[in-house]
Amino acid sequence: MFFQSIILFSSSLFTTWACPEHSYDESGSALQKRAEGQDWAYEASYNWGMINENYTLCQTGTMQSPIPLLFTQGLSLGHKPTFSNAAQVAGTFLNWGYGPGFTVAKNLSSTTTVTFEDGKDGVNETAYLKGWHIHSPADHSVQADRSKAELHFVYGDASGADRAVFAFRVDPGNTRSAFFDQLPAMISFREKKRQIPISMDLELALEEVNHFSEFWTYRGSLTSPPCWEGIRWYVARNILFVSNEQMQSILAVSTYSARAEQEVWLHAINV
Ligand SMILES: *[C@@H]1O[C@H](CO)[C@@H](O)[C@H](O)[C@H]1NC(C)=O
Ligand SMILES: *[C@@H]1O[C@H](CO)[C@@H](O)[C@H](O)[C@H]1NC(C)=O
Ligand SMILES: *[C@@H]1O[C@H](CO)[C@@H](O)[C@H](O)[C@H]1NC(C)=O
Ligand SMILES: [Zn+2]
Repeated sequence: MFFQSIILFSSSLFTTWACPEHSYDESGSALQKRAEGQDWAYEASYNWGMINENYTLCQTGTMQSPIPLLFTQGLSLGHKPTFSNAAQVAGTFLNWGYGPGFTVAKNLSSTTTVTFEDGKDGVNETAYLKGWHIHSPADHSVQADRSKAELHFVYGDASGADRAVFAFRVDPGNTRSAFFDQLPAMISFREKKRQIPISMDLELALEEVNHFSEFWTYRGSLTSPPCWEGIRWYVARNILFVSNEQMQSILAVSTYSARAEQEVWLHAINV
């Protein structure tokens, strides 16, 4: 009951933080206000295309996310990502409306980047980390198995437009995750002031999935309205394991935020 009221209160503030549309923290404190009257809900994602003329793509798109992944699809041999400058990243820890999140302070000259190939032309592009957030349960299933949560690193181009999302499946295991251990206690979301400026080592999360050495990749979309396409997705094969206690503290401040899986169409998985 207590957690429920926290979640509802949090949700009402930051619901513009649709995945993976992510904003930079420009001021260091002020976050964007909620878009008045959000008209969609994760619980009704099968019908998004019908509720608003701007959401048509949610229904008609050919590369919608998330999708079910299988080992029979193989793993990607191309599109290898290279991460840089992830060891110390300044930003704000917060609740993005559905769970824990982090927004990078807007300073492209100091932020962490990823270099990857979106097309098949051998041309690499560099994108800048905008932030991360956690969905629960996971958006992507693997072999029909759905992890308890999914962590998204969202990268944009120099103008801020979303370009790529790196997905880490999160499940309880035997050891504590060093990445999650560096965060302030999730319980801090009980306070009204839920934004905490921190400097994070994002390298720890990358290490916990072996730097995306094995992954699925595909052409996809935002996983919430307006469902824009043109985003390259990466899903790590390795699971990022947390302790039971860490898992519970994440789930305690999270609320349902997974879109129903979409049918594979023109996603070009691992191509
Ligand atoms: C669709 O988007 C346009 C441009 O942002 C906006 O003016 C319009 O009100 C939106 N339509 C609906 C039904 O929300
Ligand atoms: C941005 O980061 C660079 C490199 O760390 C630093 O020299 C510069 O002062 C920062 N700019 C602002 C506005 O914080
Ligand atoms: C793109 O990056 C890959 C992986 O780092 C590298 O092997 C390749 O040579 C790069 N392509 C170009 C055109 O620089
Ligand atoms: Zn997301």
